Amino acid sequence: MPKLIVANYKMNGSKKLYATIIKKINKLKVMDTKIVLCPPFVYLDEFRLKNRFVSLGCQDITNEDNSKSTGQISPKMLLEFQVEYVIVGHSERRKLGEKDEQINEKVKICLNNGLQPIICVGEEKKSDKLDSVLFQVEQAIKNTPKNIIPIIAYEPVWAIGTGKLPEVSRINRMSKKIRTKITDLGYQNCILLYGGSINSNNFKEIMLSQIDGLLLGGVSLRIDEFIKIVKGIDDD
Ligand code: PGA
Repeated sequence: MPKLIVANYKMNGSKKLYATIIKKINKLKVMDTKIVLCPPFVYLDEFRLKNRFVSLGCQDITNEDNSKSTGQISPKMLLEFQVEYVIVGHSERRKLGEKDEQINEKVKICLNNGLQPIICVGEEKKSDKLDSVLFQVEQAIKNTPKNIIPIIAYEPVWAIGTGKLPEVSRINRMSKKIRTKITDLGYQNCILLYGGSINSNNFKEIMLSQIDGLLLGGVSLRIDEFIKIVKGIDDD
């Protein structure tokens, strides 16, 4: 299975920066890696991607099923811009009040419209029990068809943007727990990503753990460093 690398640009960037990023990304040659770029909605149209290894994603979607939703973005709109993936339940959205129930609605809206949700889960504090993460996983995919292969991004909240990294053994324990949960719930498999404070100096160590790829935040904006990570993973 190719490794999956997701870039979450969050509320960053500009037309100018994305023009540079897209130019470099379109020239990027990889063999066995899938890349997903998730810009803010307003820049989606700038992302004319001409690289078969690279797909477009976004950072959120509506959980509403009607058009009376000021400020929301519907799946239909995203499909018009060739969006294929949607980050759902990122901790920065959970912090704004997003609950498991809404995350589940968003996951289902994605699946009903042929969009692939990337579901973010993770414990708040390093001292928290890892099992709380399993509850988030279960709630997020509740009542979805068992033949999907969920993409789950394990992102410990305490590791996001802090420069703090979990030990490989912790990621492995979490990975095992999530994969077991997924099969216990009746799904065949999942694609498991890790996210939080990854950079070009530490990605190799983290890739030694039982994961299928990475969700990158801050480092995605530093395009040369981002490409170094992609190539490093692709070459392995
Ligand atoms: P970070 O963010 O890589 O900047 O820690 C990761 C994320 O929020 O998905």
